[in-house]
Amino acid sequence: MAVEIPADRPPIDPYPLSPYVAWAGKRNRDPILDVFKGLFPPSGDVLELASGSGAHINYFAPHFKEHRFQPSDYDTRVFDTIVTKRAEAGNANVADPVRIDLTDASTWPDGKDKLYDVIFVINLFQVAPVSIIDGIAQVAARALKPSGFLSIYGPFKVEAKYTTESNAAFDQEILAAKVPEWGLKDVRELETAANAHGILLKQKIDMPANNFVLVFGKQ
Ligand SMILES: C[S@@+](CC[C@H](N)C(=O)[O-])C[C@H]1O[C@@H](n2cnc3c(N)ncnc32)[C@H](O)[C@@H]1O
Repeated sequence: MAVEIPADRPPIDPYPLSPYVAWAGKRNRDPILDVFKGLFPPSGDVLELASGSGAHINYFAPHFKEHRFQPSDYDTRVFDTIVTKRAEAGNANVADPVRIDLTDASTWPDGKDKLYDVIFVINLFQVAPVSIIDGIAQVAARALKPSGFLSIYGPFKVEAKYTTESNAAFDQEILAAKVPEWGLKDVRELETAANAHGILLKQKIDMPANNFVLVFGKQ
């Protein structure tokens, strides 16, 4: 059965400032916000990894006035956009973006000055090698409070299978780009790699459009 692509969807393009990433962000931000409203502690420090344009962090921040938000990315070209979106939203609780490259430990927070209540990442894995979970889990191991959680949002395979036809079709589209590390990853691969750093999968929350929020913690 052919899977219908929404008529307003721009061509798939993982560049963080592309029309496609903006379109995907508008679709997923409210469902993710609803989940975060149920998971966040009443106040605290929140780190976003791979923030891209900063669309999510600046959309969420006004809903969590007692929280301080830290955007980050490895690509410093997105920082101006994050700061512009912060100004447009008037978000006093969003810090200046910092450079964190999930493949380079020298850029990771060391957890000495600050520990985070929440670390989250949205839509990274389909355009990154599965090994990126090593970096994410090590950042969480260093910089997450013992009671904190790590949230990973995106489309994933479960037990080596696509959960829906539309996820299979999406994977075929990104695999067609023939970039070796692109493609849907399996929840089990993430879980196994995270476990090696003491980061454990606690919840797998079904989200619209066949995505998941994976919630990891330290204990
Ligand atoms: C598809 S975009 C998603 C951006 C944003 N999270 C969103 O959902 O709109 C993927 C993001 O991951 C970032 N990224 C890729 N590799 C990274 C790495 N090794 N460390 C940190 N960020 C990385 C890219 O710069 C880009 O901003």
